[in-house]
Amino acid sequence: MSAVETERRGAVAILKLNNPPVNGLGAAVRSGLQAAVKEGLADESVGAFVVAGSGRMFSAGADIREFGKAPPPDVPNLGDLIDEIELSDKPLVAAVHGTAAGGGLELALGCHYRVVAPKTKVGLPEVTLGILPGAGGTQRLPRLTGVETALKLIVEGRLIGVDEAKKYGIVDEIADDPLEAAVAAAERFITSGDRPQRTRERDAGLEAAKTDPSIFEVFRKGMARRARGLNAPYACVRCIEAAVTMPFDEGRAFEHREIMELMNADEARSMRHAFFAEREVAKIPDVPSDTPTHPIETAGVIGCGTMGGGIAMVFANAGIPVTVVESTDEALDAGLEKIRANYAATASKGRLSEDEMNKRLGLITGATAYEALAEADIVVEAVFEEMGVKEEVFGRLDAICKPDAILATNTSTLDVNQIAAATSRPEQVVGTHFFSPANVMRLLENVRGEKSSKEVVATVMKLAKTIGKVGVLVGVCDGFVGNRMLAPYLRESVFLVEEGALPHQVDKVIYDFGFPMGPFQMGDLAGLDVGWRIRKAKAAERPNHLRYSSVADQICEMGRFGQKTSAGWYRYEPGNRNPIPDPEVEALIMKASEEAGITRREISDEEILERCLFPLVNEGARILEEGMALRSSDVDVVWMSGYGFPRHRGGPMFWADTIGLKRIADRMTEFHAEHGELMTPAPLLLELAAAGKSFADFGK
Ligand code: 3HC
Ligand code: NAI
Repeated sequence: MSAVETERRGAVAILKLNNPPVNGLGAAVRSGLQAAVKEGLADESVGAFVVAGSGRMFSAGADIREFGKAPPPDVPNLGDLIDEIELSDKPLVAAVHGTAAGGGLELALGCHYRVVAPKTKVGLPEVTLGILPGAGGTQRLPRLTGVETALKLIVEGRLIGVDEAKKYGIVDEIADDPLEAAVAAAERFITSGDRPQRTRERDAGLEAAKTDPSIFEVFRKGMARRARGLNAPYACVRCIEAAVTMPFDEGRAFEHREIMELMNADEARSMRHAFFAEREVAKIPDVPSDTPTHPIETAGVIGCGTMGGGIAMVFANAGIPVTVVESTDEALDAGLEKIRANYAATASKGRLSEDEMNKRLGLITGATAYEALAEADIVVEAVFEEMGVKEEVFGRLDAICKPDAILATNTSTLDVNQIAAATSRPEQVVGTHFFSPANVMRLLENVRGEKSSKEVVATVMKLAKTIGKVGVLVGVCDGFVGNRMLAPYLRESVFLVEEGALPHQVDKVIYDFGFPMGPFQMGDLAGLDVGWRIRKAKAAERPNHLRYSSVADQICEMGRFGQKTSAGWYRYEPGNRNPIPDPEVEALIMKASEEAGITRREISDEEILERCLFPLVNEGARILEEGMALRSSDVDVVWMSGYGFPRHRGGPMFWADTIGLKRIADRMTEFHAEHGELMTPAPLLLELAAAGKSFADFGK
């Protein structure tokens, strides 16, 4: 099978891209397409072309695996190829189904007419890979859609449906069978002798911006917050600006220079890593993709508190009927009411239709008797975080649930193996660690117990996808992957404040690094009382010789629990989430430093970043060494999807590899000497650094 197959339908030559699974436009496809078009142009019996994709989709764009590698000689780059075929005198019609993303859509834009199947998604998501649509997308799209729409679509990188695409002028025709409709359109072109309409010649979309170029400045201002620290979105805007100010060929040359500059920068390398890491995470070496899974058609949730309610919504949102069991009628009513209020809030913002809301609510049934769970395919337990309670619940589930039901716990700190031991079927027990709010947060840590069966692991990994989550398989350890690494990060942020920094200084450094917010703002948002309660409960077991800061406890003792009490590390004006530094907190911090015998000092932004993030990476190294995550890229996925670690840094482990592990090991060694045992460098970090290796090398 060649990468592009030609099929004749009378005078129409159908050129089918054939590069499974997504028809990536790699070297073989580009050469094949170039040769097929040349051949058709030379053949007098060919009057027009249809370009289509075989298999699942038209094309997902350039082959990302080729990025950063030298192209083979004599193979055209995608942009030049599309320019070349657009100039063809014989009409080219694109027949698009499935997806046309990135270079896939750019190819379609280079054709002279576009027919698209109803469920198709189209878009230019290059910016999410740290680059821009460099095969003519920034020059052709605005000519069709107008500059304002093109700016939005290209800078947001989102895929859109066909109705939107038709409204914007990207699509000419929607047809259930796009191939047949494209052939018919090609025949019409042949019969009428109409000259093909080339996108490069359609300048109407550029007119408004020619008259009022301020649109670019306004757009740049509007995107500044989301694009902070990034280069690609700004390069996209510059290219679209070039489409307006330069003739087409010059604009294309400008676009080419811009993409080449982005292609090998850290931003693009990190985002490519993120793209592949998010796909790799679903692959479990000893659980092959053909491992049988249990069908999940009904679910149960125990406990309808903060997490249980959210988890029930997650199932209902995915169309899976779910039964929620609470211990009393009152608790059940309160929990269900919270769910209703949550949906109603989304509906009132126009993000959910009344019909859809009622459909989802109709999928949630409440009960106070465990017998209601007898037929559930999976039960997720989300009761109080106490081993005794969990053991009792799992004992009861064991007695009631059908033999092949999956029994899952949402525990965040307890030993999943001990919970599994409370049943006669530990192979059916697994952890499904959702994050709060469960119906919003994308991360799901699936915790593999010592005895969890491969079928159960495969099922919960598949389930993650069904319910719209990013499932990451982790091992049983305190805090699993995410919270375990969060602990040293939060600890050091408070130590820094005790030593001389202020919360807003620490938060600014972390925000500027690319997180949506720093640790203190995050604490205020999540509520400070939760951690306070846990610290008090664990106070007795805390080793006396280790440094401990009481600043966070003192804040809570003042009744400052964060945003919900309008005061925490910051103060808040009523109805406003803007954190305002509070002199009362600063006074408390000064006093705490004094009581701890610390002379406050100026702390540099660099030290803040390293003190907060290097220990986090260090804990990641321990997690890898202990086998609690399958690979360093899984740790990256946890942090990017669950904790807002900036995607353009590729996650903590990739970021560490980018800096070089020697630097991190050296700094951790210094921190250890200065601050003691809590900063002990992880053996794996030292070992890899000494060998000149990276986390990505580990296990290979
Ligand atoms: N290049 C190389 N491999 C790709 C690819 C691409 N453009 N797109 C997807 N793949 C691979 C995936 O890595 C995965 O491989 P695996 O099976 O070995 O893990 C496989 O194809 C299937 O991909 P998904 O699991 O993502 O399939 P889905 O059906 O869930 O999603 C999709 C389909 C929405 C098209 C999604 O794959 C996607 O978003 N792809 C990337 C789209 C994109 O960003 N295109 C722009 C590329 S850059 C470009 O075109 C530059 C140009 O402007 C010059
Ligand atoms: P919560 O206190 O809000 O809810 C627990 C609910 O369980 C209560 O409504 C209670 O009435 C019910 N319950 C207690 N015992 C029961 C029993 N025997 N049978 C039926 N219902 C019972 O607690 P939350 O925050 O929802 O936590 C639940 C679990 O999720 C805990 O294991 C917690 O560690 C974990 N978790 C919590 C997160 C959070 O941010 N709150 C995040 C991730 C996990």
